[in-house]
Amino acid sequence: MLFWRVKPLDKILETAEKKALKRQLGPIQLTLLGIGAVIGTGIFVLTAEAGQKAGPGMMIAFVIAAIVCGLAALAYSEIASMIPVSGSAYTYSYGVFGELVAWIVGWALGLEYGIGAATVCVGWSGYMNGLLTANGYAIPTWLQTGYFAGGTFNLLAFLSAFAVTILLVIGTSKSAKVNSVLVAIKIIALTVFVFLAVPVAADHKEHFTPFLPGGWGSPMGGVGVLGAAASIFFAYVGFDAVSTAAEETKNPQRNIPIGLIGSLIVCTIFYLLVGYGAVGSVGAQPMLGPNGMPIDPGTPAMAAACALPQNAQALVCSHEPLAHVMRLLGHNRVGDWIGIAAVLALPSVILMMMFGQTRIFFTMSRDGLLPDKLSSVHPKFHTPHVITIITGVVVAFCAALLPVGKLADTSNSGTLLAFAMVSAGVLVLRKSQPNRPRPFRTPLAWIVCPLAVLGCLLLFVNLSMTAKIVFACWAVIGLVIYALYGSKRSHLANGTSAS
Ligand code: ALA
Repeated sequence: MLFWRVKPLDKILETAEKKALKRQLGPIQLTLLGIGAVIGTGIFVLTAEAGQKAGPGMMIAFVIAAIVCGLAALAYSEIASMIPVSGSAYTYSYGVFGELVAWIVGWALGLEYGIGAATVCVGWSGYMNGLLTANGYAIPTWLQTGYFAGGTFNLLAFLSAFAVTILLVIGTSKSAKVNSVLVAIKIIALTVFVFLAVPVAADHKEHFTPFLPGGWGSPMGGVGVLGAAASIFFAYVGFDAVSTAAEETKNPQRNIPIGLIGSLIVCTIFYLLVGYGAVGSVGAQPMLGPNGMPIDPGTPAMAAACALPQNAQALVCSHEPLAHVMRLLGHNRVGDWIGIAAVLALPSVILMMMFGQTRIFFTMSRDGLLPDKLSSVHPKFHTPHVITIITGVVVAFCAALLPVGKLADTSNSGTLLAFAMVSAGVLVLRKSQPNRPRPFRTPLAWIVCPLAVLGCLLLFVNLSMTAKIVFACWAVIGLVIYALYGSKRSHLANGTSAS
């Protein structure tokens, strides 16, 4: 079944022209979109999750995740510059491996972007609730988090998904302009954090002992440095959303690689400094269970441990860790400002994630693998409004009910599959179409791409068991839908083109 119904690359480029979205994004706007998509819940919120899994060893987790992402970014850049159409890994897989693999990848990207958006909504709500509570406007506790994090329904996460959906229906261009301002806010917030936390960290070597309280990992995944790397990988996800905007980009051959690699480099530098500052300044030792190992975050057991008065100040229990660190260091006002920055800026990440999700399903629908109705474009706003609204509803409920870490891991499962396929696809194309123009060539591709695939596999194995189970169920549902619908309606199979 591999290499079944491979879509010729020339046909991919031609189809894209028929139902084209307007090309309106330039190189700087695109890099900012990349940074806007990358810096978010991962660094602002999952730092606590990573601390719970790995303790101070989360520093190594940041490096491992950055390396895997960097390798995948190099592969992404080659293929995105060759096939500059919306749909990213899904479209590339269609042109390289054929329809079945493309479907699986596109379906997995539904997890990456859709669940990823929900993850960021929960992160946003953590900071918003923190700010409201600090200023005496706390909403009822049961409305502050979902069940697994100790509450019932995360109201603010739900509302944030709703608001972003409206923005996306109104249009990309307006959203992208707002995004540039929000990126600046995030960068300033992280810079202030680094300047205040890193010098304190340098004076507290004792906070780095024990360095690896969760060990390196376990065969079941979800713990230790590798478990933390698998989760914190989320902090780097999003740069690939740049490539999903390729069809709306001016001069994509040049601008897509700039957007991808530029945004990844900026983010990696910030994360390492922030991680060091957070761990070193206040300490990040995990809550341990009866077996002496870190408790699985995002579970009732963890919520119970964090509810104990002696753990009230623990970094690993915080829903707004960066603001929390500032307050513990005595910078209450700065803590509030960081909270405000997160509250203002995280929606730009939700926006990019949901944008990516809608464009993937838009493209799959244009190929006949999902109902045609999903790719209808709004007559006034020129956006794919139907799929945007459906995505918004699903994201809102996932965000309202599920814990941030488990959502992040589930999102990562889809991303890792997509990254692995893209990396393998670069090599297949080098063999099958050696003469096709490559505005960007992955350096040392025969080393970089296999390492990227292995890295993705390593992180996937180390995801929490919940995420791996959800991934498997999602894959089975996807294959059933493909067998019953997409395989029969495919435009490629039927020789039809999108209307
Ligand atoms: N990398 C993005 C974040 O951390 C998805 O929120």
